[in-house]
Amino acid sequence: MNNLQADMKMIPRQLSLSDKCFSVERNKSSYTKMRLRVENLPKKKVVKVLEAYGGRNIVWNSVKTKVSNKDIRVLSIDGVETSGIQLRGDCQKFMTGMNLQAFDIIDLDAYSVPYKLLRIIFEKKLKDVTIFFTFTQTLTGRLHRGMLKEIGYTQKMIEKVPELFFRNGFEKFKNYLAFRGVRKITYFFEKDEKTVFGMFKL
Ligand SMILES: C[S@@+](CC[C@H](N)C(=O)[O-])C[C@H]1O[C@@H](n2cnc3c(N)ncnc32)[C@H](O)[C@@H]1O
Repeated sequence: MNNLQADMKMIPRQLSLSDKCFSVERNKSSYTKMRLRVENLPKKKVVKVLEAYGGRNIVWNSVKTKVSNKDIRVLSIDGVETSGIQLRGDCQKFMTGMNLQAFDIIDLDAYSVPYKLLRIIFEKKLKDVTIFFTFTQTLTGRLHRGMLKEIGYTQKMIEKVPELFFRNGFEKFKNYLAFRGVRKITYFFEKDEKTVFGMFKL
């Protein structure tokens, strides 16, 4: 047995996570994001949302047009100035110092894998908060080493054949959520399976 085979024997176990998953046509992402949010709003009249990647507020503006019986208050952060945001700057920096428990929803509509923000969220041990996320394994296919380490891959294993450990990114992401105590997620995946729109509750 060579070193790699020996390392492969040490691949960490998968934790189970129940999931409800739907496939979705490509190019329907705005509609899918809106639908996921409308169908999973908390049962409250006033809903406070922190949107880490606010962009042009397309998603939450479209949620508001579909939901008339709730008062949805969105605080948006974005690194780029747009008319729809209240806080301009790096969402990681803002969220590290914020009281995230003050929100009913935290929205992570990222262009890649929002691992660093999830780590901040999990470390704050929030309760009764709904998390929406967009997961995209970018063209390079890279996954955060920190996430891989949290689910049990060692630096040595990852360095040896990184491409191997970047495979099946969403399965690894689900395993990460399970390790962090998430028991159920609901998600839509685009047919190329590179982008997933999902949610879970803390
Ligand atoms: C997919 S778009 C968000 C779209 C938005 N949810 C909407 O409904 O219009 C991702 C956004 O994340 C922003 N972004 C990327 N990295 C960021 C960071 N570290 N901090 C804050 N904003 C960031 C980009 O400027 C971009 O507007």
